[in-house]
Amino acid sequence: MSIGKLETQDSELVKIEIGLLLEGIYRKYGYDFRNYSYASIRRRIWHRIRLEGLPNVSSLQERVMHNGDVFHRLLGDLMIPVTEMFRDPEMFLAFRQEVVPYLRKLPNIRIWHAGCSTGEEVHSMAILLHEEGLLERTRIYATDINESAMNTAQNGFIPIDKMKQYTKKYQMAGGMQSFSDYYESEHGIVKLKPFLRQNIVFARHNLVTDSSFNEFHVIMCRNVMIYFNTLLRDQVHTLFYESLAQEGYLIVGSKETITFTPTADKYETRYDQHRIFRKLR
Ligand SMILES: C[S@@+](CC[C@H](N)C(=O)[O-])C[C@H]1O[C@@H](n2cnc3c(N)ncnc32)[C@H](O)[C@@H]1O
Repeated sequence: MSIGKLETQDSELVKIEIGLLLEGIYRKYGYDFRNYSYASIRRRIWHRIRLEGLPNVSSLQERVMHNGDVFHRLLGDLMIPVTEMFRDPEMFLAFRQEVVPYLRKLPNIRIWHAGCSTGEEVHSMAILLHEEGLLERTRIYATDINESAMNTAQNGFIPIDKMKQYTKKYQMAGGMQSFSDYYESEHGIVKLKPFLRQNIVFARHNLVTDSSFNEFHVIMCRNVMIYFNTLLRDQVHTLFYESLAQEGYLIVGSKETITFTPTADKYETRYDQHRIFRKLR
């Protein structure tokens, strides 16, 4: 029988095995995926089972518990680092119109990108703030659970094959200059200019287990909570609410909502389409 068939036929047993695997990962390695969305976790675990040439979840658990390399390969599957510069460019356009006027009034600005992945979203924000004359007085906190993604972020490289796409998105996001003003290339390697990165602090932070570490004027957490179940999503929303200044902004991904979360009625929806919410006074 193929693994695909086994996977669907034996779903109750698979559920038990996945529960045990996630419990084991939590207890041995401290990563808590127990409340991540089951469908997504299950798909990724089976992907790893196929790549390792194993027959079932329990055999993966045995490997993961006894072999740190296998665990790290699975970890890479469970943390999805997909991102791009000026993702949903209209959101950045709306940010310029809605959030920038509020930021202008502040002497010092603190922005938290939670789940920053390889940094493309943070670097896009740095460009936007530079163009609005705000970068110098802003501290951007960029955090993720995935250390290797953050190491990539800190390098500030832009893949050369993405340049055309990013240039277009930059323009759609209301870019005021030429995208090429922000990078330098040498020997085929394209790198963001250092001035864009000097006010960014990268730090490892786990939204499931770590607490708040500052008060922010903007919290951006896009395409991260889609992988969480309702329980975890509610917990993280409470963390964000407590970490946000009065009248500060919370921005989530284009396919996410704050409706039905415990803090939903404590925000005013400013741009529904772009998921920009403002904390009420
Ligand atoms: C799809 S990426 C989103 C990147 C970026 N925000 C964007 O929208 O382009 C999701 C990121 O969430 C991070 N992540 C997943 N679980 C996390 C957790 N518990 N704490 C912090 N980051 C987490 C992953 O490591 C990954 O880099």
